[in-house]
Amino acid sequence: MEIAAFLPKTYTHTKEQGSVTWKSPSNIALIKYWGKKDSQIPQNPSISFTLDACATTTKLSYTKKPIKSNDFSFDLIFEGKQKDDFKPKVHTFFQRIELYLPFLKEYHFTIETSNSFPHSSGIASSASGMSALALCLMSLEKELNPTMTAEFFKQKASFLSRLGSGSASRSIEGDIVVWGTHKYTEGSSDLYGIKYPYKVHDVFKNYYDTILLVDKGEKQVSSTVGHNLMHNHPFAKQRFDQAHENLTKIQSILAEGNLDKFISLVESEALTLHAMMMTSTPYFILMKPNTLEIINRIWKFRQESGTHVCFTLDAGANVHVLYPEYEKDTVYPFIQKELLNFCQKGHHICDRVGFGAKKA
Ligand code: PMV
Repeated sequence: MEIAAFLPKTYTHTKEQGSVTWKSPSNIALIKYWGKKDSQIPQNPSISFTLDACATTTKLSYTKKPIKSNDFSFDLIFEGKQKDDFKPKVHTFFQRIELYLPFLKEYHFTIETSNSFPHSSGIASSASGMSALALCLMSLEKELNPTMTAEFFKQKASFLSRLGSGSASRSIEGDIVVWGTHKYTEGSSDLYGIKYPYKVHDVFKNYYDTILLVDKGEKQVSSTVGHNLMHNHPFAKQRFDQAHENLTKIQSILAEGNLDKFISLVESEALTLHAMMMTSTPYFILMKPNTLEIINRIWKFRQESGTHVCFTLDAGANVHVLYPEYEKDTVYPFIQKELLNFCQKGHHICDRVGFGAKKA
């Protein structure tokens, strides 16, 4: 599908007012997106597990104004309180998507949003937050164009989410999503995420992700800045090529359920992401001493126990501990006993692979 397909033609219906609510999950990348071109086009394809427990619920109420205004008009309520600091982000998002949703200036919106996880947890809420809002706006567009197919609805929701935050394009569907054009993944696109189209072994169904909150502080370097540092990065080309190769490799791993190869690939991707940060100009480190403690303990425990626990990281110090459901009775007690000491106040979130966004 080309960009032009997302430009609406004429709407057949009108809608004066209404409201809609979507709950959209976060996701954790197995093969990481790091580096982008203009308009949130990724420099390499990525693949993620959609999560279940970490989610944003957004209610969008809309009222048609007597005449279209010159600017967007909306109120933002975060966890029950007016939150003007979040408004610039939403304003920028509206500017980026107005071309594709030309009715935006015709309505006044009230956006009421809340997260299932604490805002200050260091868990990025942009993927779940932007996708939840994009889905609400798509529900309004569907009112104006009721013949829209379910397939198009999801694709455009992912397309719009991407313009809010790249990784948000992977939060519409479950349980595994690919975003970014990859030669050997049929239907893959830089414009939107697609449900992983090939065979997945049962071991990856209901995979566990226990998220260890190592550092809940504000990140010193935002993802936007980090992505931009991949321009002129000395290892950029090798990294982007490697991501393509890894996406090819993960296909047989997912099909065969080869956990040893899964572990090597996923941990290498996490460390490569952070290696890119450490070799940027300027360089930076988002891991904390406790991140490394946790990684070392996971390695030691894996060797001693013969389990398949592994880790991945996002752009921060927190650790996602991944393991198959059938090992939970061995791995979770280990996490409680040995890893929670390295989290702020023992905080962690028990999550698992989920099945995508849902309309409330
Ligand atoms: O969607 P952004 O711009 O916040 O970038 C997310 C980048 C990583 O989380 C580090 C990797 C990924 O693929 O999700």
